[in-house]
Amino acid sequence: MHFAPSETPEIVYCRNERFRLMIPNEVIQRRITEIGRDIDEVYKDKNPIFIGLLNGSFIFMADLIRNVTIDCEMDFIKLSSYGAEKISSGQVTEKKGLDAKIAGRHVVVVEDIVDTGLSMRYILDQMSHHKPASVKVVTLLHKPEATRENVPLDWVGFAIENKFVLGYGLDYGQLGRNLAAIYVLDEEN
Ligand code: IMP
Repeated sequence: MHFAPSETPEIVYCRNERFRLMIPNEVIQRRITEIGRDIDEVYKDKNPIFIGLLNGSFIFMADLIRNVTIDCEMDFIKLSSYGAEKISSGQVTEKKGLDAKIAGRHVVVVEDIVDTGLSMRYILDQMSHHKPASVKVVTLLHKPEATRENVPLDWVGFAIENKFVLGYGLDYGQLGRNLAAIYVLDEEN
C-alpha cells in the first residue's frame, strides 16, 4: 500500500489480498454534496444531531458534516467490529454509548455501510428508548442482497453488490481505513 496520496491506484493490497478500485473519491464527494443539500432542506431550523457509528463512519461523517450548512451537533457511538473477518459475526455489542441527550431531538444516524443491518437495528432500538423527536439514517454504502433486517435507510450514498469493500473509513482487520477511495475485494485472484 505504498503510493503518493495524490494518486488513486487501481489496485491495492491489504493483508495480502487484492482489492480493485470501485468508487473514486471524486464520485464519493459529489454524492455527499447532494446528500448534504438534501439534509439542509429537511432539517432547516431543527438543529439536528448527527450520531456517527465508530470506527468506520468517521471519514464519511467528517465530509458529510462539511456539506451541511445549517446549525447541527454531533456525537459518536462505538459498536463491536468485524475483527479481522470479512463476514459479519452476527453479534452486536456496544463499546461506547451516547454522551449527548437525544430526548426531543432530531437525530441523523451516520453509518459507513449497512450489510446485514444488525448494527443499524440495534442502534435504532437503542435510540427509541431515549425518545428522540425523529430518527433518520444516512449510510454511505448499502449491500441490499446481504440485508436481513428491515431498517429504514433515508439516504444511501451507493447501493453495492454483496462483496467485501475497503477504504474511506472501512477496514480489513483495522487496515485500509486511510484509503481515499473505496475498493472491492478482487475475487478473481
Ligand atoms: P452489519 O451490522 O452487518 O450491517 O454491519 C455493519 C458494520 O460491519 C459496518 O459498520 C462495517 O463496520 C462492517 N462492514 C460491513 N460490510 C463491510 C465491508 O464490506 N467492509 C468492511 N467493513 C464492513
